[in-house]
Amino acid sequence: MEKAIPAHVSVIMDGNGRWARQRGLERIQGHLEGVKSVRACTEECVRLGVKYLSVFAFSEENWGRPAAEVEFLMKLLGKTMIEELSTLMDNGVRFVVVGNRARLAPSLLSAIEDLENKTAKNDVLTLIVFLSYSGKWDILQAARRLAAELAADPGRSVGEQDFAAYLSTAAFPDPDLLIRTSGEQRISNYMLWQTAYTEFYFTDVLWPDFREEHLRTALEEYARRDRRYGKVK
Ligand code: IPE
Ligand code: IPE
Ligand code: MG
Repeated sequence: MEKAIPAHVSVIMDGNGRWARQRGLERIQGHLEGVKSVRACTEECVRLGVKYLSVFAFSEENWGRPAAEVEFLMKLLGKTMIEELSTLMDNGVRFVVVGNRARLAPSLLSAIEDLENKTAKNDVLTLIVFLSYSGKWDILQAARRLAAELAADPGRSVGEQDFAAYLSTAAFPDPDLLIRTSGEQRISNYMLWQTAYTEFYFTDVLWPDFREEHLRTALEEYARRDRRYGKVK
């Protein structure tokens, strides 16, 4: 039997702070090491033939962290976007950011747009970075935009697919597999609508330790799952 490779793998990258604390380091050291895991998993997805890799990098709630940590994360994201261009190009990776861009600093926004534009034609893998994102924010912004259009066309019928077209993830398929590291078993306001039939995989491994072999183990587990979508098989 051919092994089922998920088209879209998503990761709630958690445990950077605990990884650092275990080593007597500052939390930010965990975020720095976590960037290496993103690179390792991106390259492994390319090798395995995964078409979409999405990563939850910063939630709307994460804005409530201490200012110094938020500032460090924003700087790290901007710096990483500049530094990773050649790796993304070499691997044929298209880079996209999903989230509430209105909250991002202009300098970070321009780094994002620059990388999105430069990698736009790559088609081996799409790397989607969820930044200043929350599932409830996404559903609400979709509902608001749809409501504005319905006001002008009240007779229009709206089905699930019509609604999904207003979500910030409209251009991508729903995740097949969602991995959360660090032992936490919750969705933390990530893709709420889109994970309706996603397979969940939880591991105690902290994100900075999560590398190629851990991803392969998650994909092996996914291949053993039986997705029924409410039907009888
Ligand atoms: C995940 O690691 C990274 C972000 C949420 C930005 P954490 O920073 O949440 O690490 P823990 O959960 O405190 O260990
Ligand atoms: C979820 O991790 C958000 C990201 C990984 C970006 P958190 O560490 O913020 O989640 P909680 O607070 O444990 O639910
Ligand atoms: Mg956490």
